[in-house]
Amino acid sequence: MKSSIGVGLIGTGYMGKCHALAWNSVKPVFGSGVQPRLVHLAEVNAAIARAKADEFGFARATGDWREVIADPEVDVVSVTTPNAFHAEMAIAALEAGKHVWCEKPMAVTLADAERMEAVAKASGKVAVLGYNYIQNPLVRHIGTLLEQGAIGSVNHVRLEMDEDFMADPEALFYWKSEASSGYGALDDFGVHPLSLLQVLFGSVTRVFAHLARPYPTRPTKEGTARAVETFDIASVLFEVGSGISGVMALNRSAWGRKGRIALQIFGSKGSIVYDQERMNELQLYTTEGPGTERGYRTILTAPQHAPYDRFIPAPGHGLGFNDLKIIECHELLNAIAGEPARVIDFAKGLVIERTVHAMAQSHQEQRWVEV
Ligand SMILES: NC(=O)c1ccc[n+]([C@@H]2O[C@H](COP(=O)([O-])OP(=O)(O)OC[C@H]3O[C@@H](n4cnc5c(N)ncnc54)[C@H](O)[C@@H]3O)[C@@H](O)[C@H]2O)c1
Repeated sequence: MKSSIGVGLIGTGYMGKCHALAWNSVKPVFGSGVQPRLVHLAEVNAAIARAKADEFGFARATGDWREVIADPEVDVVSVTTPNAFHAEMAIAALEAGKHVWCEKPMAVTLADAERMEAVAKASGKVAVLGYNYIQNPLVRHIGTLLEQGAIGSVNHVRLEMDEDFMADPEALFYWKSEASSGYGALDDFGVHPLSLLQVLFGSVTRVFAHLARPYPTRPTKEGTARAVETFDIASVLFEVGSGISGVMALNRSAWGRKGRIALQIFGSKGSIVYDQERMNELQLYTTEGPGTERGYRTILTAPQHAPYDRFIPAPGHGLGFNDLKIIECHELLNAIAGEPARVIDFAKGLVIERTVHAMAQSHQEQRWVEV
């Protein structure tokens, strides 16, 4: 096995910086494994690329992303550009023999997601998606509690994902309001709760969805109004696993919500409640003990919840969003090394994409749709 791995990064916005932080931190945090070499970074022009390469610690910079993919020293490419570019960039990287770490959603159209999965399979390279929330040590622990039967047999799951970055009706029109980015809340947000469902319960089997557009137009920089092409709100009924019923509510214009991904799991002997806004704690209710003393108990993340121990030896001190990206990066490196890895690869990601498109179809046809 090589002792180092050459990294390419395309895009340096919100997620690009998260990937860069992860590539810089994965070795110090996890200790073992290969050492990432930050080789080549791309942005929309050479000047931005050079400035970001200097900030993030990359050796080479370019205004043409194809140069990153052609670079023989690059072994793995982070794709952190807007959704519309994912398919073209990920496919080009795989065809050039690179591993890929691509941000979610996988692609805008189902046909593109299918092509990505087929090319990944044919390439023999590792291709994973940026589903960071499955990496939270407490989400892993929820899986352990479910396996142990801590809340008995699960019968109902409720999921909410809300943020308020599109809540202001006066906020300017940008790429997330364009149809070229996808349906809106469904593929921007819905894919994250779906990733949690996938790791905890398996595939969604059928869906009934309703999409809504709170603001039909948004102002532009030029002072005009432009019609919004996406849906910022989605409400979905679903079934998952062996007969578990569920509700999923998504809202990108939910004033007051900053990073809510709330999960409630109800079983025959208890329930589990978790919210990403309080990502270092979960609530567990069990029917053990006398009724007079029953109630939710709060479990704080601790070194016993691997891989929290890799970051901090003290319990209850807390991880953050970027730490999930570092864990995700480590899992990607495990997959590249041929070791067991907790990742959503392009094959599993395609299942999530099919679910999203089934939800959109359900909204259009106003009926239950099988996934
Ligand atoms: N995993 C998560 O939790 C999470 C969170 C936010 C966003 N995302 C995903 O990350 C992706 C990017 O979102 P963002 O919020 O970082 O967007 P952003 O606008 O902050 O960053 C995108 C960057 O890509 C650059 N870019 C655009 N076209 C390019 C090109 N042709 N070549 C090189 N660079 C190019 C832009 O200049 C910008 O710097 C989206 O697909 C989004 O869904 C994932």
